[in-house]
This record gives sequence, C-alpha cells and structure tokens, in this order.
Amino acid sequence: MTRNIGILGAMAQEIDEVKAILTEKTIVKIANREFVVGKINNVRCVVAFSKWGKVAASITATLMIQEFAVTDLIFIGTAGALADELRIGDIVVAKRLVQHDLDARPIISRFELPLLNRVYVNTDPDLTALAGHAIEQLLMKGVEEIVGKEATEEFGLTPTLHFGDIASGDQFINSVEKRNEILSLLPDIQCVEMEGAAVAQVCLEFNVPFTVIRTISDTADHNARVDFGRFIAEVANAYSRAIIAEIMHEI
Ligand code: ADE
Repeated sequence: MTRNIGILGAMAQEIDEVKAILTEKTIVKIANREFVVGKINNVRCVVAFSKWGKVAASITATLMIQEFAVTDLIFIGTAGALADELRIGDIVVAKRLVQHDLDARPIISRFELPLLNRVYVNTDPDLTALAGHAIEQLLMKGVEEIVGKEATEEFGLTPTLHFGDIASGDQFINSVEKRNEILSLLPDIQCVEMEGAAVAQVCLEFNVPFTVIRTISDTADHNARVDFGRFIAEVANAYSRAIIAEIMHEI
C-alpha cells in the first residue's frame, strides 16, 4: 500500500515551515482548518496545524484519517519538561500517551479512557523507532546545522534524544505546584503538552499507526511563558522542518 503520511503540528508557524518543503501542493479547507496535500521527498503527505488542545487536535486528526485517508500520523510540537534530566531543546519521542486531566472516578480509575479499558495509548513501535533514528541522524550533524549558531548559543542548546511517556491536558502548565502534582500522580512522565494523548486516542480507535515528537521548550514552571514565543520562532520551527524532512527521507 502506498503510504500517505499525515503530519500535524501544534503551532501554526512550525507547520508553515513544514508546508514550505512540500512539492505538488494542493490546499483543502475543512472546518476552519487548512490541509496541504503534496509530497516531501516524493512521499505522499498531508500537513495541517492541529490547533491547540485535545478537542481541536482530535477534530484535525479525525479529518486527516477520514477525509485524506492517511496511513500514518506524525505529531510534532513542543512540550514542558517534567523529568529532571531534560534540558531546553531536548527531543522526546513518545512511547505512551496519557491524559493527565481525565478523571471519571469513581466510575472508573483515574486517567482511564472511558470504554477503552486503559490509561495509556502506545505509539506505533516502527514509526517511533524510525522517528528516533531520523532525529539521531540530525543531532549527529549538530544542532547548529538546524537552528544556526546564534540560536544555539542564545538558548544554550546541547540537545539529546529521549524516549518515554508524555502526558496531555487542556492546560498550559506553568506552576511548580501543578507540575509537581502531575509528577506525583504519574512519576514516569517526561513532559507535558496539550494534544498528543488526544491524537493517540483517535488513532487507537481508527487503528492508524502514529507517533508523537516533542521538543522541550520550557520546564512547565513559573518560567514557562518567558521565552516561549522566541523559542518557537528561533528553535522549534527549524527543528520541525528538519525532523520531518529527515523522517520523510527515511520512510
Ligand atoms: N507546550 C509547551 N510547553 C507546555 C507546557 N508548559 N504546558 C502545556 N503545553 C506545553
């Protein structure tokens, strides 16, 4: 079967960078969303801005599957670090996703997905390994190649790759209390964001292989907002473009 890769990004600017490398482009608009259909490195793909939060991302992921028949879904964006070893600019590829704000107790256990009998959704092992390999290749070339010398120095980037669990919720986490609360309940979580677990649930229900890639933009505490905009513009945009190009090269 010919692969048709769905690529979703959490920030409009990041996804604009990815759209820029598509060839043979066609634009389709559905539900206030722009889907760009085309090719990267001769592989068919559809690229869209997921919009923010679990509901918005679920809508976009469902449209990717139902309207564009994607065979695989790749989600790319930024996240706030919970694990101590993570540094700004590190990259986390998800093994499993969980919704940290889902709680239907006492009917079912905390974090359990209603009617799905599980707390975590696993990413596809092959797609996750492929994404990890592509990122390793890129990091071997050096981060300056991706973002330039100035941004590398400004943000003190020495990126490393991590595989682990990611938690999503409809909240931007920027307080020590909130980050510690999530960590105390879900101690293995590497980082937090607002869409991954929702896309995971959609992909589980539609049986579509998926992976989630997140660059650490902040530490999910009171410093979280400070340089977020600049980090997106100077680092995350370039990362997304380079990572997606490399993945599409390896697919
Ligand atoms: N995305 C990037 N940083 C985040 C944070 N601190 N909380 C939620 N989503 C994020």
